[in-house]
Amino acid sequence: DKDEDLKARPPVVTIMGHVDHGKTSLLDAIRKAKVVSGEAGGITQHIGAYQVKTDGGQVLSFLDTPGHAAFTSMRSRGAQVTDIVILVVAADDAVMPQTIEAINHAKAANVPMIVAINKIDKHEANPNKVRTDLLQHEVIVEKMSGEVQDVEVSAATGQGLDELLEAIALQSELLELKANPDRAAQGAVIEAKLDVGRGPVATVLIQTGTLRQGDIFVVGEQYGKVRALINDKGERIKEAGPSMPVEVLGLNGTPEAGDVLNVTDTDAQAREIAEYREKA
Ligand code: GTP
Ligand code: NA
Ligand code: MG
Repeated sequence: DKDEDLKARPPVVTIMGHVDHGKTSLLDAIRKAKVVSGEAGGITQHIGAYQVKTDGGQVLSFLDTPGHAAFTSMRSRGAQVTDIVILVVAADDAVMPQTIEAINHAKAANVPMIVAINKIDKHEANPNKVRTDLLQHEVIVEKMSGEVQDVEVSAATGQGLDELLEAIALQSELLELKANPDRAAQGAVIEAKLDVGRGPVATVLIQTGTLRQGDIFVVGEQYGKVRALINDKGERIKEAGPSMPVEVLGLNGTPEAGDVLNVTDTDAQAREIAEYREKA
């Protein structure tokens, strides 16, 4: 892509951390705070990936990680989808094994981290224990005179959420993220399943280009033609641009998390690439 074809795109923010430290709760809280009530689909989380608009008008794409499987698999396949990692650490539990795993993932992928010290509402909360624990893993937060932004939050009360969003916006500006929306789409599968009613469904994060209804594509060892695109609110949409998570219908089979989706010119091309990959 030429420089003039590149346009600013939203950051893709992945929430990582130890089990039960509040990743999903934090995402739900952000979504509830930022989704206008009465909007179609309301606040029901449709897919484990969604976009919000901050009060400053910036769009952010969020990915939840129930485990690190998808993230690891994507990285090993070279599909780096994440621009920023939010490391969620519960203030009443501090650094735990999966916290360390998440730190190692972020470092290996060279992705900047923001630490969200969650559950600050609990009376057992000890945010300084989190900060000193992190030091041992060479994560030096701002309050310890380091460079990693740290924000005290509570998914339960909403405390610190705006500050967290500001921290993301700031980090994102430094990254100057860009993509060309005017080319054949490429994306990465976040999750995929075989739906009884709808057939194979893949949640794809668009990385470059724009995916449209009717586009022919190959994804991993599968191929298809976009029958429908569904956004994070469960609405059918006509197209999805860079950094947007979208459900794709119209696959011949179920791909795997981390598989890369590419739009092709013809059906024959898509099938040929899929078959070639299947044999490889
Ligand atoms: P896994 O996806 O299973 O790894 O867990 P998770 O990190 O997504 O944590 P989840 O959001 O499921 O929260 C775990 C528990 O902590 C739930 O009972 C939440 O209600 C609780 N919890 C999450 N955030 C907060 C918080 O800020 N304060 C309090 N008091 N409880 C919280
Ligand atoms: Na949980
Ligand atoms: Mg969760």
